[in-house]
Amino acid sequence: MISTVASMEVMVSNASSSFDPEDGSIYDSANDMKAFDETKGGVKGLADSGLIKIPRFFVHPPEKPQQPPSKSSNINLQVPIINFEGFESSRRKDVVNEIRRASENWGLFQVVNHGIPENVMDDMLEGVKRFHEQPQEVKTEFYTRDADQRVKFFTGALLLTKEPAIWRDTVAFDFKDGKLDPQLFPAIMREEVGEYFRHVTKTGKALSELLSEALGLRRNYLSSIECMETESLVGHYYPACPQPELTFGTTTHSDPSFLTILLQDNKGGLQVLHQNQWVDVPPLQGALLVNIGDLMQLITNDRFRSVEHRVLAGEVGPRISLASFFFPSTANTFKPYGVIKELLSDDTPIYRATHLAEFMGQYMSTGSYISTLSHFKVSSGQACPSTEDTDHLKSI
Ligand code: OGA
Ligand code: NI
Repeated sequence: MISTVASMEVMVSNASSSFDPEDGSIYDSANDMKAFDETKGGVKGLADSGLIKIPRFFVHPPEKPQQPPSKSSNINLQVPIINFEGFESSRRKDVVNEIRRASENWGLFQVVNHGIPENVMDDMLEGVKRFHEQPQEVKTEFYTRDADQRVKFFTGALLLTKEPAIWRDTVAFDFKDGKLDPQLFPAIMREEVGEYFRHVTKTGKALSELLSEALGLRRNYLSSIECMETESLVGHYYPACPQPELTFGTTTHSDPSFLTILLQDNKGGLQVLHQNQWVDVPPLQGALLVNIGDLMQLITNDRFRSVEHRVLAGEVGPRISLASFFFPSTANTFKPYGVIKELLSDDTPIYRATHLAEFMGQYMSTGSYISTLSHFKVSSGQACPSTEDTDHLKSI
């Protein structure tokens, strides 16, 4: 079965190049990464060993001149905050309008009064923290590259891309069609995962209706095309980093999902690219962060925008976050998703149809997490492949 984000994280690429901070050269770090991977201790294991300098395969080259100025953030821009209070009654129209504006202009927004109790969110983040802080030998039982494992622990997005490693460990849960046997959850966070999943699924459904309306479609449009039925819950742990200016917690990327709901703790470090400037996404007590994914941008013909974001490494840690990625149901892995016809009055479609298997295959093959949407532009002239053409993708 095709993997979603959680399982894709464990794919291996052949070569990785890192930047040597001592002499500015580029070296092939694949062997060093492999050795680190085999420790199965994650970045936390490394950080706990008390090192003062980070290994060079974590070092990212200085940012290119055409990119926005380094890690500073523009303080005059503020990510929209939407209050969901009354969204099922008196304030629905306002909430729908705010979601439309934010999805068109920013591609992400913070939500308050979304209905998930604060203790459920706090307990979830605590659960992620406990998982990563438990004795290494217990944690490593979940350390795997097997794409079929639906609960897994992995680190540093290692060997995934040609990019240097990142200062982050992850525990991931693959709820295919919303289902995952709780017996598979690590005991140390079993209840928290189940409880948070139930709530975030409800929030996902509410958002699918609100986004449908924000597009001027009937309320159940997005649920009727089953594009948000599978969820990957991904719990990140960003240890304190002795040289945060040399690496990243998460490198610049857009999410390949239809939609992502992110829960972050109060440490900060998340930034979003807006009007070619990096803008901090400040932690907001009790809030959830919602961002549009690449596939949503595709089916809305660029009306709603997926957005590039990243997480800075921090001198103080750990920072904990929990991302919920929404994808189509497994029965729809090979179902074509193209631009929604109802949105195409005069416009021509910018993108051709694609299916999840092809889209994810393309995303993984680029060796970088920058959006692959341009590959699906109509002008690139390729038709949506048939199921037979992509049988080989079933094994990723
Ligand atoms: C992600 C992501 C941000 C964070 O997992 O795709 O962007 O705050 N995470 O961890
Ligand atoms: Ni992301």
